[in-house]
This record gives sequence, structure tokens and C-alpha cells, in this order.
Amino acid sequence: MEKKWWHSATAYQIYPKSYQDSNGDGIGDLPGVIDRLDEVKALGADVIWLSPIYCSPLADQGYDISDYFNIDPRFGTMEDMDRLLAAAKDRDLKIVMDLVVNHCSDEHEWFRKACEDPDGPYGQFFYIRDWHEGEPYPCNWRSYFGGPCWELLPGHTDKIYFHAFHKKQPDLNWENPLLRRTVYDMINWWLDRGVAGFRIDAIINIKKFLPFRDFPADRDDGLCSIQRMLEKAKGITSFLDEMADETFRPHDAFTVGEVFNEKDEELPLFIGERGCFSSMFDFSGTLINKSEKGWYDQPPVTMEQYKEAMFASHRRVAGVGFLSNIIENHDEPRGVSFFLPPEGRSETGKKLLGGLGFLLPGIPFLYQGQELGMENTTHTDISEIDDISSQDEYRVALDAGLSPAEALAVVDRFSRDNARTPYQWDDTPNTGFTTGKPWLPVHPNHTEINLAEQKGRADSLYNFYRALIRLRRDPEYADTVVYGSFEPYLEEREGLMAYYRRGRRTLLVLGNYSGAEMTVPLNEASKRVLLNNLERYSEKDGAATLAPWQFVVLEV
Ligand code: NOJ
Repeated sequence: MEKKWWHSATAYQIYPKSYQDSNGDGIGDLPGVIDRLDEVKALGADVIWLSPIYCSPLADQGYDISDYFNIDPRFGTMEDMDRLLAAAKDRDLKIVMDLVVNHCSDEHEWFRKACEDPDGPYGQFFYIRDWHEGEPYPCNWRSYFGGPCWELLPGHTDKIYFHAFHKKQPDLNWENPLLRRTVYDMINWWLDRGVAGFRIDAIINIKKFLPFRDFPADRDDGLCSIQRMLEKAKGITSFLDEMADETFRPHDAFTVGEVFNEKDEELPLFIGERGCFSSMFDFSGTLINKSEKGWYDQPPVTMEQYKEAMFASHRRVAGVGFLSNIIENHDEPRGVSFFLPPEGRSETGKKLLGGLGFLLPGIPFLYQGQELGMENTTHTDISEIDDISSQDEYRVALDAGLSPAEALAVVDRFSRDNARTPYQWDDTPNTGFTTGKPWLPVHPNHTEINLAEQKGRADSLYNFYRALIRLRRDPEYADTVVYGSFEPYLEEREGLMAYYRRGRRTLLVLGNYSGAEMTVPLNEASKRVLLNNLERYSEKDGAATLAPWQFVVLEV
């Protein structure tokens, strides 16, 4: 396999709106990111994925772009962006932008022009269809944020347009070669400006199952999950391959696809040696127990399920390519709240979860605050929630018969706002995020969980993540951690997640989440303990004794 710089990278996702505000308007911004670059460097990450900062009405927090060539004034200016790129370069950090091209904003000039002249060239940039009041829509697919995928075209009574996400996010018509060319030119413009690559949003949706048609309804609303069309749509790789040839490959850019529902045979086409992406996220953990009925129907996840999901994913891609591993991102609840049972949410348990995920093959992506163990928040009323998908799921839960309090509790477990509360820098009232009023309330636990406290404490979660990253970079172990084979160990043993990484060295990773002390037989005595989330470790007569929530990395 040809070695690439990004194989050994550790990436850190910044959600700019909630990271650091520099001008007191309560919204994080690019100058704020620049001010904090040394913190990313101190953690040890080498790639920053920046969630969208392009001009946007922020209906979906920037995933609704109204101008791909400018920075939203709330986030700063193009000069700030250039300063960020230069400051990152000085620190040997790479910047990866978010590429959102399944859809744009309904406030984008292309869409405005399409509304003015649906039969003109910009009409062809979207999926616009004739329709008359009382007629069924061209298909009954449910949009990701609820309701039908069709909306009346502004200024018209007899035309509708398609949106897979919110109605303010009209889908771009990738069947149109001119649209594709326009997108590629934009991508190259950013690559030429110095970004190292892209995290590619919602990309699996660019290939529609055409012509539009109904599938059997799966809820009382008469609609069906849009997943049905993704299962049927064929030929996405010809679009992706063309995009890669026209943009990423000539620039040797790093790309990570937001890919769901991939079929086994597509894996090499996506992330193989000549794949369309460098890597793609492994969402198998976040998808555990997902119900098509909605969040209200989703039981809590167990660590046993997490283990099974991770082992299955990494077996599936072994020898094919690199997954990007996450326990959370800006669309998910906090990983420690989602995966760990309440009794495991101590710093020890958080280290176990972090360590087990970090040492899997692939590229670790940390989400801002993960290194502090930031947790889900709670709300007293749905009006406190900003996220559009949470509002939809709240309605779905009410429709299913839950009381408002029960529906709110459901939303608290899964809301995307959990990950979007301001980064917890310190224990001051606004946690060092802003001098103004934060756009989302700070988590009350910032007085205990914050960077300032954890930096000053050798055994903090933050310092544990630093140690993980150091191990990944250590010349003695990097080759094994990055390229070593992956071999589950004692897979059937409940309460234990264990695996080998075998390369120039052999590492055995052990995590005991059973809640009780556990004895684990070893095939060989350990030579040294490379990482331990507790002070003690005991090994005797060919067996390790692990305390509850103990995590160790042994060299054997
Ligand atoms: C995935 C993004 O991560 C999410 O935040 C967004 O709402 C959708 N794609 C639509 O762009």
C-alpha cells in the first residue's frame, strides 16, 4: 500500500460556532479559532476539520450555503480564513473544510435564479417538477428533517422542488454536467487557496433513484424513509470518481466521506487504493439501535453492542482501506453519554471509551470537547432547543403518544444540540467562550469539566488523550498503531473489549466495562504497560486482573 501523510494523522473537529468567540457576539468565529490554534497543537492533533463557515442563513447551522466563495460575516472574513490557513501552516496543522454539495441554501443565487426562470440554466441545477394543488408529489420520500421532500417553488403555484434535508436546503442536480463542473471549479478554488482537503457532507445522497417514485409508506404520514431510495440508487461512483479526478486526485487532497448505507462491494470504490475518498467515517457505533420510527423508539446502547459494531466494521474494511473513527460529532449526542452507562461516566470510564476507539485501525477524529469528556445537556422546554432535527423528533414522539415531558427527555438523549454547547475552556460564567451571551447556553457542568482544570492535572482525561496521540506518533509504535493488523481477542467474553494490533511490535488493548473486577488470560506475558487509566495494573500466572473500567495497552 502506498503510504500517505494522512494515514498517521489525528484529526480534530472544530464546530466554529461553539468553539471560541472573539468579538463578544456570542457566536464562535475564525479569529477565535486562530487564537486557540496552539491548544489544538498542544493536544497533538495534526488535522483540523472545520465545520462550515461559508455564507449561510444558518437554518441548518451552515450546512445550508448561500455563497461558497465567501465567509459568513458572523464567522469572520476571507482575510481571517487566509490568516487561519497561514497560522495553521506555521504550526504544521492541516485545515480540512466541510464540502456541502448535495444541496445549497434556498438563499443561494443559483436557487434565486432558478425561481425566477425555472426553465433556464439554473432551473437545471435543481430538481424542479410541475405540480398542481391536490396532485400527489412525484415521490413520497420523507426528508431527513421530517415532512415530504417537496416544497412549492417560491413565486410559483404550479412548480415544486426537491429537498432531502430542510426545505431551505434544495438538492443540487448532479445529473447536470454543468452543475458538476461548477462544483468542481469551486472545490479547486479552495484547494488552490491552501486547504488540505474536505470532509464531504451527505454525499451519498447526490445519486437519486430516478425517475422519482413512491415506496410503501412506513409511518402514518404516508411517507417512506429516504433510505429506501438510497438502497436502490445505482451509479454514484461515476459521479464520485469524476469529482476525484477533476479535483482531489490532482491536488493529492485528503477527503473523508460522510457515507451511510454503503454496500460491501462499494467499499473498495470508496476507500480502496484508487477509491474516490481517502477515508470515510465509520458510523456503525452511532447507528446502533436506530429505529426507523424515530428517536423515541431507540433503546440505550450497551458497550457490548459498541464492541460488536467496531469489530464488525474493522473486519469489513481489513485490507481495503482506512475508516475514520468517531465516538461523536456535531450531529450526535456526546459519546460518553451515549455509549457509557451512567455508572461508567467517570473519568476512568471516559478514558476506557476514548482509548478503545482511538487505537482501532483507521484515522481517529476527535470532536471538540471529547478530550474533556463533555457530556449531554438537559432542557426544561423544547423552545430552548435550536436544532431543527430535534424539533422534528419531538413532534414525532408526541405523535406517537409520549407526553411533552417524555418527548423532551427523548430529545435530551439524542439532540444534536448536546454536541453544540460552547466549548468548556474554564470555570468562569461563560466558560471562556464569549464575553457576550452565548448562542446556546453553556453546560452547567463547565465548573467541573473544563480545559483549564484538566491541563493542570496530570491524570486528566485531556492528558490521557494527549498520551494516546503521542503513542500514535511515537517512532517505536507508530507503524504498529497506524498499519498494524487488527485482531479481536476473547471476543465472546462479555464485559471485555480486547484486541491486538500487530506490526513491528505487538500491542494488546484491554478494556473492562463489566463493572466488576475481571481476570483475563493472556497468551503471553506483557513486556510493558504503555497506557493505563488507573495507577495499578496486576498480572500474574499468565493472566491480567483488571479493575472495573480499567483500560490498558500492553506491549506483548
Ligand atoms: C450532515 C451534517 O453533518 C449535518 O449537520 C447536516 O444537517 C446534514 N448533513 C445536511 O447537510
